Amino acid sequence: MSAAPTKPLLLRTLACEDTAGATPIWVMRQAGRYLPEYRELRQKAGSFLALCRDPALASEVTLQPIRRFGFDAAIIFSDILLVPDALGLELGFVDGEGPVLGRPLRTAAAVAALPSFDPARLAHLDEAIARTRAELPAATALIGFTGGAFTLACYMVDGRGGDFWQARRMLHAEPDLFQRIIDANATAIASSLAAQAAAGCDVLMVFDSWAGLAPRGREEELLLNPLRAVMAQLRAAGVAQPVIAFLRNASHLAAAAAATGVACLGVDWQSDLGALSRELGGRVALQGNLDPAVLLTDPATVAREAQRVLAAYAAPAGHVFNLGHGVDKETPVANMEALVAAVREGSGAARG
Ligand code: CP3
Repeated sequence: MSAAPTKPLLLRTLACEDTAGATPIWVMRQAGRYLPEYRELRQKAGSFLALCRDPALASEVTLQPIRRFGFDAAIIFSDILLVPDALGLELGFVDGEGPVLGRPLRTAAAVAALPSFDPARLAHLDEAIARTRAELPAATALIGFTGGAFTLACYMVDGRGGDFWQARRMLHAEPDLFQRIIDANATAIASSLAAQAAAGCDVLMVFDSWAGLAPRGREEELLLNPLRAVMAQLRAAGVAQPVIAFLRNASHLAAAAAATGVACLGVDWQSDLGALSRELGGRVALQGNLDPAVLLTDPATVAREAQRVLAAYAAPAGHVFNLGHGVDKETPVANMEALVAAVREGSGAARG
């Protein structure tokens, strides 16, 4: 009898299966400017968006950190703002500032004119996913992603990152209008994630990076209901892939978020991974939560702090090692190598 094909360690961990102590590791923004090979390709492509829109280049950039570090998962190279761009909000990148939407949503008329999301507008992403899945080792999971409904709404109303004053004004002054954006986003998110799953992603992730800005008392309508809607729409469409939800700076919602049907919650570095694992361990997996600033130190400090995160996780299964937010562009490659080595050593020899 031949052995059953081994399910990737990330998928076993997301299912809270016993992995004999092995902890998978991948890192948010693992493809990016801290890698010299990324900077070289970005320069050749001319811009970040050109990289995203070229399936061969996006796939190559996705694979770069896998070749270098052997992470347990690849995350497809893309951006959460490609969905608002596909809705006609005209994404551009301003050097030294970051992403800017040329047509932010400021009026009821603009919101009413919002088209429904057509995943065919992101066909390049599906092609990048298919190419990447074909190149990846079987043991490496491929993650597809979108923004969360609230985070996308923040960018869509303000048009740029920062404190999101326009979005925060709108949600108080015109709650129904803001809610229409949230609802439209939930549908777009489910549709994009379903397309990414069909193209070959093994895991889906929702980055609600600005969840912490939702006012207390409004979390149900702004964060939890849209997440429930995304899960319901995915499951109704027959999409079975596990979902990771990252509600950054909103760990007061962890128990409620864990009950939405997601497999895993991302944990930011300000939150207490030990306490959350004692409360929720076994019900959902938890992903995190090393402070990305630790990667700006030195290999010995990185190893020590990685051990601290591994030791903090208190449930018997279900820990996905990651940072508490994205990797900084000044991170030395040697520190990332030290991180992977420390997690592999610290989580026991029993991998695979
Ligand atoms: O994680 C990965 O390696 C996959 C790729 C990925 C990118 N953006 C590529 C990127 C992912 C998962 C994202 C998500 C994303 N994008 C989020 C949610 C996660 C988070 O960090 O909170 C947000 C808020 C965005 C929007 C966005 N895109 C911002 C605010 C910026 C500018 C900040 C920055 O780091 O420059 C981007 C640009 C961006 N997205 C870069 C990369 C690699 C840098 C582009 C470059 O200059 O080469």
